[in-house]
Amino acid sequence: MGIWIDSDMGADDLFAILLVMQHRQVDGISLSFGNATLAQVEQNAVGAVGAFGWTVPIWAGADRAILGSVETAEQIHGTSGMRTRGVALPVGKPAFAPALPALCTWLESNEDCEVLALGPLTNLATLALSRPDLLSRIRQITWMGGGVTSGNHTPSAEFNAFADPEALAILLARNVPICMVDLDACRQVEITEADVSDVRASDHPQNELLADLLGGYLDIALTRGRDTMALYDPVAAAALLRPELFTFSSAHIATELSGTHCRGRTIVDTRNPDQANGTVISGLDSGNVRTLCLSALKENR
Ligand code: RIB
Ligand code: CA
Repeated sequence: MGIWIDSDMGADDLFAILLVMQHRQVDGISLSFGNATLAQVEQNAVGAVGAFGWTVPIWAGADRAILGSVETAEQIHGTSGMRTRGVALPVGKPAFAPALPALCTWLESNEDCEVLALGPLTNLATLALSRPDLLSRIRQITWMGGGVTSGNHTPSAEFNAFADPEALAILLARNVPICMVDLDACRQVEITEADVSDVRASDHPQNELLADLLGGYLDIALTRGRDTMALYDPVAAAALLRPELFTFSSAHIATELSGTHCRGRTIVDTRNPDQANGTVISGLDSGNVRTLCLSALKENR
């Protein structure tokens, strides 16, 4: 049995999915709004299929949050959700069927299921609301999201949480096991210009495309006066693939749903393990995690 990936298909999502595919079977990918609109995310997915020959079933999920808003990260990633320094993903014509029935079928056919969530949690919350009987089949959702100490989309909130905090609250209320790989963990794994050069010099058959996408991703930081950029989604993938490189702590996770300044903030309390409803990252071997994440962009295994 493989894993399921839920993604808002930006550059770091792509890097994470390439990493997972090198190590595990992927049974399905459900798409969500987030880095860009759902329509653009679907375009990015079609492009990834064309560039990398993916055969995994891909499904179209939520185009908006549970309460109807459409918050994207386009101001960071551009309208494509995937900046490039030159070579871009090929253009195709998306025709993905709805994600919820496929996700339900997958859960009905498997037990002890592992999900890697790389965007807003809307698709998984929709599942929780429509088929709560299937939630016991989920062993864990490993989610790139949240920020124990700070945010990125707002000073308080990380983007995936901010885009649909009700979705996170629904999953937490249903006691769905979540391992939250938050900003503090991801910010310990960064790329530099040298990594872009290494990818370009690698013998990966798509080295030019991957180098231009990694460079476009790094430019998010460079254009803001920083010379390194955190790898977000690949770190969550690494936590699922190689948990021995991480230290986990039981925690009570909550999210703020109201407020002008703190909506979407994730509040993490590790003081009372008996009240835990999830796990967070309390440490990681950043060097080996970084090597693992970048290996997917340099080796075509
Ligand atoms: O805050 C980082 C997260 O938001 C990543 O998953 C990135 O792809 C965007 O979805
Ligand atoms: Ca993402």
